[in-house]
Formats: sequence, C-alpha cells, structure tokens
Amino acid sequence: MDGMANTTDTSTSTARPTAEEDDRNANRSTTPSSEGFKRYIGTGWAERDESLPPAREQATFAAARRAKVSAAFTGIRLIIPAGDMKQRANDTDYPFRAHSAFAHLTGWGADSEPGAVLVLEPNGDAHDATVYFRERAGRDTEEFYADASIGEFWIGPRPSLAHVAADLGLATRGIADLDHVIDSVDTSTLVLREADPAFTERVDHARIRYAAEAALSTNASDAPFSLEVGGEHEPDAELARVLSELRLVKDEFEVAELRAAIDATARGFTEVLEELPRITAEVRGERVIEGVFATRARLDGNDVGYSSIAAAGPHATILHWTRNDGPVVPGDLVLLDAGVERDTYYTADITRTFPVNGTFSPVQRQVYEAVLEAADAAFRVVKPGAIFREVHAAAMEVIARKTAEWGFLPVSAEESLQPENQFHRRYMVHGTSHHLGLDVHDCAQARRSMYLDGVLEAGMVFTIEPGLYFQADDLTVPEEFRGIGVRIEDNVLVTADGAENLSAAIPRTADEVEAWVRGAAR
Ligand code: GLY
Ligand code: MN
Ligand code: MN
Repeated sequence: MDGMANTTDTSTSTARPTAEEDDRNANRSTTPSSEGFKRYIGTGWAERDESLPPAREQATFAAARRAKVSAAFTGIRLIIPAGDMKQRANDTDYPFRAHSAFAHLTGWGADSEPGAVLVLEPNGDAHDATVYFRERAGRDTEEFYADASIGEFWIGPRPSLAHVAADLGLATRGIADLDHVIDSVDTSTLVLREADPAFTERVDHARIRYAAEAALSTNASDAPFSLEVGGEHEPDAELARVLSELRLVKDEFEVAELRAAIDATARGFTEVLEELPRITAEVRGERVIEGVFATRARLDGNDVGYSSIAAAGPHATILHWTRNDGPVVPGDLVLLDAGVERDTYYTADITRTFPVNGTFSPVQRQVYEAVLEAADAAFRVVKPGAIFREVHAAAMEVIARKTAEWGFLPVSAEESLQPENQFHRRYMVHGTSHHLGLDVHDCAQARRSMYLDGVLEAGMVFTIEPGLYFQADDLTVPEEFRGIGVRIEDNVLVTADGAENLSAAIPRTADEVEAWVRGAAR
C-alpha cells in the first residue's frame, strides 16, 4: 500500500488543508486538485442502480429484539453506536466490525458502515428506531474520489440511505443529522458506552450541558446529575446489561446462523487435516493450520470469530496459545480451537484435539477419554430448569476423579472438590462453559444471577469445553503426561426437553478422531 494513501481531504472535514498540513502530506498526496480535474471527475458516470432490496430475513427478528429493549426503557432515548474504525498503525486500520449489540438490534453485520449509530427515540410507550450513517457521497464531491478512508474509489461503493432502510426495515438518516440527536440529548438519555468512546464523549458533554442548563433555569440542586466525561455512568451500565441479557436466549434466526457457522467450522477442521503433510513439513506448521482455517472462515463467513488456537505438542497446555509459530510433529497432539464467524457475526467455538500421525499413544488416549467423559457428564446436565454452573460442576467431578485415580492429587477427589481445595483445577484452570452467539464469549455483561447462577432455558446456546493440561515442567505428574494438553469443545443448544449438541457431526470420540485424521490423509 506504500504510496497509495491519499490525503487531499479528511473524512470529517471538507476544509482545505492548512499550508503546514499540505507540506506534511506533500510526499503522499498525488491526486490532482485543479478545479478542472474536480469538474471533470464528477462527470461521465453511468446512472447508479437505485433499485431497493427486499428486507433481509433478519429484519423481523431485529424488530422483535428492539421491541423488548423498548419495553425495558419506556420514555428513554437510547443510543447504540456501531463503533468506528480502530487504528492498527499509522493510517492502517483493523478490519471494521460493528459492536455486537448494534448488530443484534439492526441485523446489520459484515456490510455495516463504520460510525453508524442506532437511536431509539421514545414515542409514547414505544420507540422509533433510526439508523444514522454516512451514506455514499455524490460523484460531485471530493470525498467520492479523494478520501482514502471512505471514498468510493478507495474502499468501494457505500449504500444509499434508501437502500439500507429497505434492507434493514428501519428508518435511516445521514450522519450529519446526528447533530440533532446530540442537541436533543437530556440527562435520561442512555448510550452504550463501550461501542464508540468518541461518540460517547459527545453524549456525555451534551448530558452535562443539559443538566447544567436545567439547574440554572430551575435553581434545583436537590438531585444533581453526576457524570464525568468518559467516566462510569450507572444508568448506561444498566443499558449494557439489559442488551447483554437480551442475547441469552437465541431466536430461530440466531440458532440457524450458529448451525451454519458450526458447519463451516467443521469443514475448516477437515481441511486442516487434509493439509497435514504440508503442515508437518513447515517449520511453523501451526501457522499453516491457522491459515488453512482462516481461508475457510473468509470463504464461508466474515472472518474467524476469535484468534485461532493452533497448538501442537506442549503448546496445547497454553490455554490461549495464538502465536501459532511452532512446528507440528508426528507423535504429538494438535489442539485446534477455532470458529467461523458468519457475515451476520454469529460464531462457532469448537475445539478438537487430534494425533498428528492418526493414532493416539496410550497416555494421550487415556487423557483424551477422561476429558470426553467429563464433557459427556456435562452434557447430561443440560436441560431447561438446570442451573448453568451445574454443567461445570458435572465436568469437574470427572476431572477430580480421574486425576485422583491417577495419583496426581494430594487428597481424594471428594476432598479436592471442596471449595477450599480445588487441587484438580491445577490441570484445568478455565471454566467449562460460556454463552455463545454474536460474541464468542456472549452475554458477558449479564448479571451473575442470569448467567453463572442462571436457570437454563430453551434457546440458550453455550459451549461445553472441559480439558486437561499437563504443563511440560509440572513435577506433580509422571513424565509421560507432561506436555500433553487436550480440550474437547462443543456448542450446545438447550431444547424444550434437553439439549442438542450442535457440533455432534464433528468427530468426537478417540476412535472417530483417529479415523478422521487417517481419512483426510491424501
Ligand atoms: N476459544 C476461546 C474459548 O474457547 O473460550
Ligand atoms: Mn469456548
Ligand atoms: Mn474455544
């Protein structure tokens, strides 16, 4: 990209650069700026296709979700930004991803526009929903051809307001109209703070200004409005909590998307196995695994839902091993934890652990089957009415029993399971389950009473992912166990009368996994 960046304009201002800026950017600015060129480039274009799409399937689901938010905040203006581009380095940004709450309430995912904001404006007992975004620029503007961050010549066409309105089944307005929203902000207005810190600061300033003016005009001082720009604001936190809890139970559209994400992930895992000869031939074989899976994620979805963990040999004992720069050696296990994120942003979160040479050693198999037993015990707990943390407890009972049987614990399994001991957790320090959806760790701001201590309901989707990890230098286990890490992670849907393992089609037992690895060899 060197030399391509263009700086004759900025995304937020049409003002001419100062002489100083002109000088600073002189070595990178190559677009002609003569009046003749500007007139010329605005002409000679074919008519745009202005036909409108039908509303996307998700539109009705998003409307139903908004109705629930509306009911929880009657009479209160709610602002839910998508967020903006995030800088990676200098003038290079990370790929844009809208905040999950914004995607949930609009149905706008991978094709959403940076800087978009959903506003729910109170109207009687309900709210009017409007999405504000920077619509495409006319061909008579400098933005059209000269703005490297948002111009059509640089990043491709952007949609019209009418197009997005039809597509999402929502009212839309241009980004400039957000100024009117800021003007109408009062102290009861709430904003999802984490989504767009810069826009949140504008809302904070507006609320503080409103409070100051109200105090002046009424001389009221009995209930001062307390807010620091960029600080905490409990009513905003309440909005974040409600939006997070709203996602605990998935609707039919979301479950279908998760199924599709899991199918694509299954395909990506098999493609990894098919590439094992290349993977073992490379010095950084783990990187090949990461790349093969990432290719499937980009082909079938938006991206990976989180950084893939491609952990061979002792790296499998490092829980979030994402450096993925190690070799993949026959005789070792590979722990692959990866998920395809759909264009709608729903992601799978799957782990399989497989022997590189297609055969578990006796010790590897012993560990694998203990983890599988823990996973199966956890699955048996899942049904409506069960408590979320009981799923973890069932897995831990097996992990404690196995590690005690093998003589690794200083006490019995029963004693280890006591809250004050928990010695078996040395070999599995993470939890067994987390909710899954738009975020890999979904619903993270839900209250404990709704999440860890929450009652399972049909439509919830979460992981079951026990593991055993024996660090290479752990002297509490025999040498042959050291450096072995196994995790088996599935995605489970709570059904009306039990549970469905959404990832059941991905080989799971030790025998199935061996056959899968061998069958993929070309
Ligand atoms: N991939 C992260 C997790 O399993 O939670
Ligand atoms: Mn997980
Ligand atoms: Mn995972």
